[in-house]
Amino acid sequence: MAHSSTRFTVQPGGALTGRIRVPGDKSISHRSIMLGSLAEGVTHVSGFLEGEDSLATLQAFKAMGVRIEGPDQGRVVIHGVGMQGLKAPAAPLDLGNSGTSMRLMSGLLAGQSFACTLVGDASLSTRPMKRVTAPLAEMGACIDTTETGTAPLHIKPSDGLKGIRYDMPVASAQVKSCLLLAGLYADGETCVTEPAPTRDHTERMLAGFGYEVRRAGSRVCLSGGGRLSACDIDVPADISSAAFFLVAASIAEGSDLVLEHVGMNPTRDGVINILRLMGADISVSNARDVGGEPVADLRVRSAPLKGIRIPEDQVPLAIDEFPALFVAAACAEGKTVLTGAEELRVKESDRIAAMADGLKILGVSAEPTPDGIVIQGKGGQGTVFGGGEVDSLGDHRIAMSFAMAALRASDKISICDCANVNTSFPDFAGLAAGCGLAIEVSA
Ligand code: S3P
Repeated sequence: MAHSSTRFTVQPGGALTGRIRVPGDKSISHRSIMLGSLAEGVTHVSGFLEGEDSLATLQAFKAMGVRIEGPDQGRVVIHGVGMQGLKAPAAPLDLGNSGTSMRLMSGLLAGQSFACTLVGDASLSTRPMKRVTAPLAEMGACIDTTETGTAPLHIKPSDGLKGIRYDMPVASAQVKSCLLLAGLYADGETCVTEPAPTRDHTERMLAGFGYEVRRAGSRVCLSGGGRLSACDIDVPADISSAAFFLVAASIAEGSDLVLEHVGMNPTRDGVINILRLMGADISVSNARDVGGEPVADLRVRSAPLKGIRIPEDQVPLAIDEFPALFVAAACAEGKTVLTGAEELRVKESDRIAAMADGLKILGVSAEPTPDGIVIQGKGGQGTVFGGGEVDSLGDHRIAMSFAMAALRASDKISICDCANVNTSFPDFAGLAAGCGLAIEVSA
């Protein structure tokens, strides 16, 4: 594993050109292991994200007795054990930095007949888990957290879960997915209503594994007691990883970059909608369906951007892409205002604070608000950022966003604490350097 002192140093200027394929979708990679493990039969996955987060999920299911081959160049073979086939792990399951692993697995594991403990790194151990443990308790689950509702999670076998009707107070795909996975083991029907659309990979993939999922408007329901049948999964490139390149090629004059095989699920495409509202030049070609998920190639060319008020309905659809979008906003003409995004404060870092601090260090006016930020863009074609040193706070998306800012900087940008880029985007620096970013990694 990379050392936590990993630093990115990016020389100023440049443009991005060529054709690249960013690594596989993190959300789909996690779910492929979870559902493949519980299925009957052998699931073949290609395009699996070999990042630390999805590997944490893979290791956890191996520790529960599932035979999993790979990953080998994105190929994983999962020998499913069926709904009741998981075994008690010998030790606590360490999920590292991965909120998706912890929240989804807490639901799935609440339905097992063995006890287990979920632990994570320092960041994951501060993230809110009551949002899953409270509704799970209503279903009859027995889960202990710390007094403040954080990990470690101690999950004990229950006397049987019962279905729930749950109106989610926050628009969270992790909470929705957690409850649906618990619902597989519950008596009766589990229904989750979301206040705004969130990523629907769990629903799509359950259907792909042959499990009936019913959707009516903002409500999604399933009945417990069914079975999953193995299937093949081709994981698209992660739009959340593509986002850094969409922003980078938009802001760096002379850029012309094609991103291949990008997942274009309409519950994930907020970054494209927002960048287009800002004036970005992104064209979509070769749109196709791959195993129940829309996929396309994206061509992005540099374009003058303008500041906007980001529509709140786009927030859940771009929830992981805001650090990159803030860099675009700094390069846009005029003010960009984000509201309704308090969730950014409880991600791998407080992303509003982390980005506001870094942008200020680089000479951009960025005022955090409780639920968003106001960024005064500099516009024009020249440099926007001064050089300097910023702290990623161990958050992969903060690190990659500031790396891209160097394309419009007057001097080099140095970013510390970048090891966690490996959680979602192994070899980010190599891929970015290959298409024109002057980035170096040092330990
Ligand atoms: C994810 C859902 C989102 C997202 C995370 C992955 C998922 O979290 O930020 O990176 O795979 O379900 P929330 O549901 O907490 O917003």
